[in-house]
Amino acid sequence: MLNIVLFGAPGTGKGTQSALIIEKYHMVHLSTGDLLRAAIAEGSPMGLEAKKYIDQGLLVPDDVILREVQSTMLKNTQSKGFVFDGFPRTIAQAEALDRMLAEKNTPIQMIIYLEVGEEELYKRILHRSQISGRTDDNEETIRKRIAVYESQTFPLIDYYDAQGKVIRIDGMHTIDQVFVEIQKSIDDYLSKK
Ligand code: AP5
Ligand code: MG
Repeated sequence: MLNIVLFGAPGTGKGTQSALIIEKYHMVHLSTGDLLRAAIAEGSPMGLEAKKYIDQGLLVPDDVILREVQSTMLKNTQSKGFVFDGFPRTIAQAEALDRMLAEKNTPIQMIIYLEVGEEELYKRILHRSQISGRTDDNEETIRKRIAVYESQTFPLIDYYDAQGKVIRIDGMHTIDQVFVEIQKSIDDYLSKK
């Protein structure tokens, strides 16, 4: 089983690269943002509660996120592995994920950290806002999302560096070029297994 975390600020290309990875390596995409947006679209009580946070660019509480992640993992016990996108985002989430995976004896093998300059993040998300329909894709909320990423999520790099699992990839290149680099890292890992 191969478990990968795609890590990076809003707009770095986590969702885009996840789609390419799951197609090539037949893994399951677990995006907490997508799960929350699906719950909002359904109008579930959890979705309506989460929307309040998302629209302000704030993190949804850990217990809500962990319940969603656990339930998605339970629905996919036969999968070849997960691509975690936008999760974990806090130290508490990372520790909980490590515990969940330890029970299954299938730890995270790599954190793919997409590095993209801040100006480019605004450019990409504002461009996407023309078609995404995402209520958090506006300049004010993007600013908040980036600040929240820097204060609450970026410190996870130290957590995973301590485990020797972080692979840094320059996310400023084209989508195809970034995917080539990701494939090299995954194939390299698989060839040494
Ligand atoms: P989430 O849905 O995870 O959004 P995000 O992290 O803000 O990231 P984005 O989805 O905006 O960007 P991305 O990195 O996926 O980039 P993409 O591939 O789309 O979270 C949304 C909210 O939900 C959070 O703010 C929070 O409230 C809540 N939430 C979610 N998870 C949570 C958690 N674990 N804990 C607590 N709260 C949580 O690319 C962006 C654009 O750029 C696209 O148009 C794409 O086509 C383009 N693009 C991609 N790559 C390139 C490239 N190389 N060159 C040029 N353009 C590119
Ligand atoms: Mg995304």
